[in-house]
Amino acid sequence: MGKALIDGHGRRITYVRISVTDRCNLRCLYCMPEDQKFRPMAHLLSREEIRRTARLFADFGIEKIRITGGEPTTRPDLVGIVSDLAAIGFPGGIALSTNGVLFPRMAHDLLAAGLTKVNVSLDAAEAEHFRKMTRRDHFQPVLDSIALALSLPFDSVKINAVVIRGLNDDQILPLAAMTKDKKLGVRFIEFMPFGDNDWKETDWVGWSEVWDRLAASGYVLTPIEKTLVAGPADEYSVTSPAGVHTGSVGFITPVSDRFCDTCNRMRLTQDGFLKGCLFGHADVDLLKPMRAGATDEDLRVLVSRAAAIKEERHPMFVGMNKSTLPLHARNMSEIGG
Ligand code: 5AD
Ligand code: SF4
Repeated sequence: MGKALIDGHGRRITYVRISVTDRCNLRCLYCMPEDQKFRPMAHLLSREEIRRTARLFADFGIEKIRITGGEPTTRPDLVGIVSDLAAIGFPGGIALSTNGVLFPRMAHDLLAAGLTKVNVSLDAAEAEHFRKMTRRDHFQPVLDSIALALSLPFDSVKINAVVIRGLNDDQILPLAAMTKDKKLGVRFIEFMPFGDNDWKETDWVGWSEVWDRLAASGYVLTPIEKTLVAGPADEYSVTSPAGVHTGSVGFITPVSDRFCDTCNRMRLTQDGFLKGCLFGHADVDLLKPMRAGATDEDLRVLVSRAAAIKEERHPMFVGMNKSTLPLHARNMSEIGG
C-alpha cells in the first residue's frame, strides 16, 4: 500500500463506490424520469479504465469497493469487472448494488468472480406498490433475486428501501418482517431531493418516524457495532412480536445526517469523475486525463486532489426547502446511487 488517502477534513477514505453505467431497466420515481437520457457509451469508463483506477485506489489503501449505477447488471462486462477488482484484492470485499431484475442470470458468475456482498433495491413487499415506485412490473424477478442471493455464500445480502409518504410508507412493517427468518438486512433510506425528482418535505419520512412505527408494532431494535469499512447505515438486530429475527434492520439517514463527520467514502461516476460527496460539486475528472495519456503518477495526484477538496458535509437538513438548496442537476443514476 502507498500513501493513505486523507481528505481535507482529516477523514481517511477507505471505501470507493464505482458507478459503471447510468442506464437502468427500472424508472424509480425518486431516481430518474421516464424519459431519462443516457450518455453515449463512449463516455462511460471502460472495463480497463475501471481496472486501472481501482488499482490506484488499492495503492491508496482503499479497502472496499461497491459497484453501483444506474443498474450495473445492464453492463455486459460486469462479471469481468468484478473479477478484475477481485484480482486487485480489496480486504473489505466487493459489493454490488442492483435492482435485482437481471441479477439471477449472472449471480453464480458474479459469486465465482469474487463478489462478496449484494444489496438489492426493493421499496415494497407488494407487487402493486413496487410497480408504482419503479414504473415497471418486475416485482417477482426481484424477489427471486433476493432468494437466490440468500441461497448463495455471499457475505451479506441486504435490501435498500427508500421511504416516501403516501407511496410506500405502509410497506415499512412488511419489509421489516422479511428479516424474520432470513439472514437479510433491510435498510430504510431517507428520500433525498435530487436532479428533477419530485421531492417534497411532506413526503419525506425521517428515520426516527420509521423507528417509531416499528416500535409501535412491538419491534425492539438493538445496535450492532460497525466495522471500519461499514457504509453509512446504522444497523440493528431485531426482536418483534413474531420472535427474534434472523436478519437485521438499518437506517441510512442522509437528510437527518448522522454520518458526514465520519464519512469514509468517495465516488467514481460512470463518466470518470472522482467525487467527494454525492451532493458535491467538487470533483476531478480522471477519464479525460487517462485518455490523454496520463501516467499513474499523474492520476495519483488527481486522486489526492479529489480527496483534498471533498466537502465537509452535504447541504441537506431536516426541514430544508428543496428550491433553496444548492442541488446537483444530475439525477442519482447519473452520479451513482
Ligand atoms: N433518495 C434516496 N435514495 C435514493 N436512491 C436513488 N435515488 C434516491 C433518492 N432520491 C438510492 C436507492 C436506490 C439506489 C440505487 O440509490 O437506494 O436503491
Ligand atoms: Fe434504476 Fe436504481 Fe434508479 Fe431505480 S433507483 S431507476 S433501479 S438506478
